[in-house]
Amino acid sequence: MVSRYHPLLVTLHWLLALLILGMLIDGWQVLSLFRNTNPAKVLQLQLHVVAGLTVGVLMLARLGTRWGTDKPAHAQTGNALMDMVAQIVHVILYVLVFAMVISGIALAFNTDLFNILFGPNPLPLPKTFRHLLPRSIHGTLANILMFTFLAHFAGALFHQKILKDNLIARMWYGNRK
Ligand code: HEM
Ligand code: HEM
Repeated sequence: MVSRYHPLLVTLHWLLALLILGMLIDGWQVLSLFRNTNPAKVLQLQLHVVAGLTVGVLMLARLGTRWGTDKPAHAQTGNALMDMVAQIVHVILYVLVFAMVISGIALAFNTDLFNILFGPNPLPLPKTFRHLLPRSIHGTLANILMFTFLAHFAGALFHQKILKDNLIARMWYGNRK
């Protein structure tokens, strides 16, 4: 049994952590504050859509790497329930990130957004996205993702600071023996 995750999975974990947290902040603090009538919104949406699709592709690569490489044994806290919750949180994080990408794509198809943002002729944005179901789903999932991430982060801190088992080393580079 190896002692760390595969270096490619480590790279993808930290790259995606930055991208996903960046996209949540971008969505709440930048994107949704611009009205669709503001011409600057187009560039914001172009960046958000390209970054979101990149997250989708990198998540597929990550899933492939996770299935195709050796993983360390499940982390132990001494409490079976907490250990199970940690594993469930990992699965939920994967599901939520894919669901964010899929609801974003559904919203784009719903509003002809790919054509508006990347088509040959400049087209106007719809007045708002707010009333659309994929938009509500996208927004609700973003909140759930943030809370799930916070649980994940709290778990990592608990290992690091309370149990002092240096769990973080499993998600870093080094000898895997
Ligand atoms: C500062 C932020 C973060 C820290 C400190 C952190 C820490 C860690 C650590 C220490 C592990 C290894 C757990 C183990 O060995 O059992 C891990 C695994 C994992 N992390 Fe994070 N993480 C962070 C952000 C994120 C984010 C934003 C996501 C996704 C939204 C994420 C998803 C995962 C998943 C799914 C695993 C399980 C391994 C895998 O299948 O890829 N992490 N994280
Ligand atoms: C992991 C990937 C993604 C994350 C974390 C993310 C995050 C967010 C967040 C936090 C918001 C604002 C929600 C709110 O204020 O209620 C948002 C809005 C939006 N997202 Fe994403 N998103 C992702 C992927 C995508 C993708 C792939 C697309 C399109 C293909 C997309 C299109 C949009 C659009 C059109 C809005 C609405 C902006 C508005 O209402 O003005 N997103 N996203």
